[in-house]
Amino acid sequence: MMMYFIRSTGAPARTVGWRDPGFIHTSFLKDLWPNRLYTYRAGHLLFNGSYVWSKKYSFEAPPYPGQDSLQRVIVFGDMGKAERDGSNEYSDYQPGSLNTTDQLIKDIENIDIVFHVGDITYANGYISQWDQFTSQVEPIASVVPYMIGSGNHERDWPNTGSFYNTTDSGGECGILAQNMFYVPTENRANFWYSVDYGMFRFCIADSEHDWREGTEQYKFIEHCLASVDRQKQPWLIFAAHRVLGYSSDFYYGLEGSFEEPMGRESLQKLWQRYKVDIAFYGHVHNYERSCPIYQSQCVSSEMSHYSGTFNATIHVVAGGGGSHLSNFSQVNTKWSLYKDYDFGFVKLTAFNHSSLLFEYKKSRDGNVYDSFSISRDYRDILACVHDSCEASTLAS
Ligand SMILES: [Fe+2]
Repeated sequence: MMMYFIRSTGAPARTVGWRDPGFIHTSFLKDLWPNRLYTYRAGHLLFNGSYVWSKKYSFEAPPYPGQDSLQRVIVFGDMGKAERDGSNEYSDYQPGSLNTTDQLIKDIENIDIVFHVGDITYANGYISQWDQFTSQVEPIASVVPYMIGSGNHERDWPNTGSFYNTTDSGGECGILAQNMFYVPTENRANFWYSVDYGMFRFCIADSEHDWREGTEQYKFIEHCLASVDRQKQPWLIFAAHRVLGYSSDFYYGLEGSFEEPMGRESLQKLWQRYKVDIAFYGHVHNYERSCPIYQSQCVSSEMSHYSGTFNATIHVVAGGGGSHLSNFSQVNTKWSLYKDYDFGFVKLTAFNHSSLLFEYKKSRDGNVYDSFSISRDYRDILACVHDSCEASTLAS
């Protein structure tokens, strides 16, 4: 057990938004057997020598890297929280949040791991809202891994090392995020990390810290993408909070960039060289899916079933977790295949080493509104594409 004391860096997190966080306990469960069911409860030793205990929870330990079994993954961003009694309806800042949460709880038996890629609570320096959020997601986070990415609302604050000098974190500067949730990094202030989950490798980037060529983070991303053995873990997923790839968001449209300024240049060659299947983003509060893109061009007109040689990365905005929706640009591009101005999330289902299903579900009803599948063998990942025959993996 470890306890953390939380000190943020700006207002309101240091002033009117601050409250004593009490105790935060972190337990490390080591040497778990893959796939085995574990039951646990959390306890706290009181001064009088007695314990208070939580109720009991169960979870199944993750599959081992490379394991061939059914594996189901949820990805979304920007969910936030809301009051079930409507007491804060006037603000209504994350109107889709409870619907998304409830759909995940309803389907929890069919979910193995969750990625919430940034803009977690929108507490923005009002620290008690982290308790409200963690209470809301407890039925999910207590039974499956709830992995988070860092967003502007967790990290950004002027002159504190965030890449963007906005005040969006309300002075939290990432301190709350890194103490309330555990991510497997050497330095938990940096939210870049990798996750091996069965046939998947996830490379999670931190768009609130510099990711460009020459940075520590860029080296990490390249190593994460390069070091996976695709024969064992064929499904390679990249995710970051801000759109470092492709989005028809209204504001990106005004800039004519369809990405975060300076987002794509450094990373595109890595996605291509290491043959990333899907890149996910949040920050923009809607849903959008691109064609497979290589050098900023569509390489396939197929919409629903991709098979054979890997040739490009599909980019997905899944930022409709709950926060107020973002408008699309009026400009229609060739690379945008599906847009939805609504709340929703993505579910990936890996059936085996050569078959993956992608589904976009709306939070209002849990039904599938967009989907595609990928059928691909190891030789298709290794095959030469375009004008290059570079190795897709450093693993031997
Ligand atoms: Fe954001």
